[in-house]
Amino acid sequence: MTSTQSSSTPRKILVLGATSGIAEATCRIWAAQGASLFLVARNGEKLAAVAKDLKTRGASYIDTAVADLDDTDSHPALLAHAINSLTGMDIAYLAHGILGDQTHAEQDFNAAAQVIHTNLMAPVSLVTWLANFCVQRRSGTIAVLSSVAGDRGRKSNYVYGASKAGLSAFLEGLRNRVDREGVTVLTIKPGPVKTAMTAGMPRSEKFADVDSVAESIVRAIDKKKDTLYVPFQWRPIMFAVRHIPERIFKKLNL
Ligand SMILES: NC(=O)c1ccc[n+]([C@@H]2O[C@H](COP(=O)([O-])OP(=O)(O)OC[C@H]3O[C@@H](n4cnc5c(N)ncnc54)[C@H](OP(=O)(O)O)[C@@H]3O)[C@@H](O)[C@H]2O)c1
Repeated sequence: MTSTQSSSTPRKILVLGATSGIAEATCRIWAAQGASLFLVARNGEKLAAVAKDLKTRGASYIDTAVADLDDTDSHPALLAHAINSLTGMDIAYLAHGILGDQTHAEQDFNAAAQVIHTNLMAPVSLVTWLANFCVQRRSGTIAVLSSVAGDRGRKSNYVYGASKAGLSAFLEGLRNRVDREGVTVLTIKPGPVKTAMTAGMPRSEKFADVDSVAESIVRAIDKKKDTLYVPFQWRPIMFAVRHIPERIFKKLNL
């Protein structure tokens, strides 16, 4: 048994934003464990390629749906269909998101609103439905990709940071509500990871490896953790960053 396998591996996994680099790496581990996967993404061609690859890697069942997750009206039908297809759900994994263009968003409210919609409003809609489903059954894990960027607003990415701060606070409150109902809510806070999202950034070759990030995510889900900083160094780093006095912080170029 490898470090990423567990005897009690949940079998039925719904993945929203399945073509994300981090989601794909996580699904490769779950596929090798023989999980049943329902994959949702907005690009049908990429989604078909990911689904084919995961089948080859050992997934016991795969179904897919193409959906733009910004369309919150479509969420109830999409989620009901996915769970029907899986005949249940042990884990819901939310991985979709956009970085946006901070400079543009500073001048254009619509650009800022798009980031907030995709990264906060859409997950709130999805997670509200999923949490109520899990509470009814008194089981299930909802694992969501937030970000260390939500731990403190910085001038270089405060619009994205605000969307993730809102998401982390929402998940924290939800956990406080549903933990006593047998439902686990995991907030995942990655530091910079090598994926398409960060490909154009300076020093991106030094960012965390997506496969080791995925291994940590699978382990945290298996252990029913509340919050995961990944790589782990980001927990003390963000602790320090959150405690820099504002009179100093506001003068830093972060
Ligand atoms: N990479 C990092 O350094 C990092 C750090 C902290 C947190 N995160 C978070 O981790 C998550 C995954 O990011 P990643 O690094 O794996 O980035 P990625 O490879 O760029 O994946 C982002 C995914 O979100 C999908 N998406 C965006 N808007 C969507 C929409 N409206 N409907 C459906 N799908 C949509 C994209 O689909 P398309 O391919 O069709 O565009 C893409 O598959 C994101 O929430 C991100 O904010 C990433």
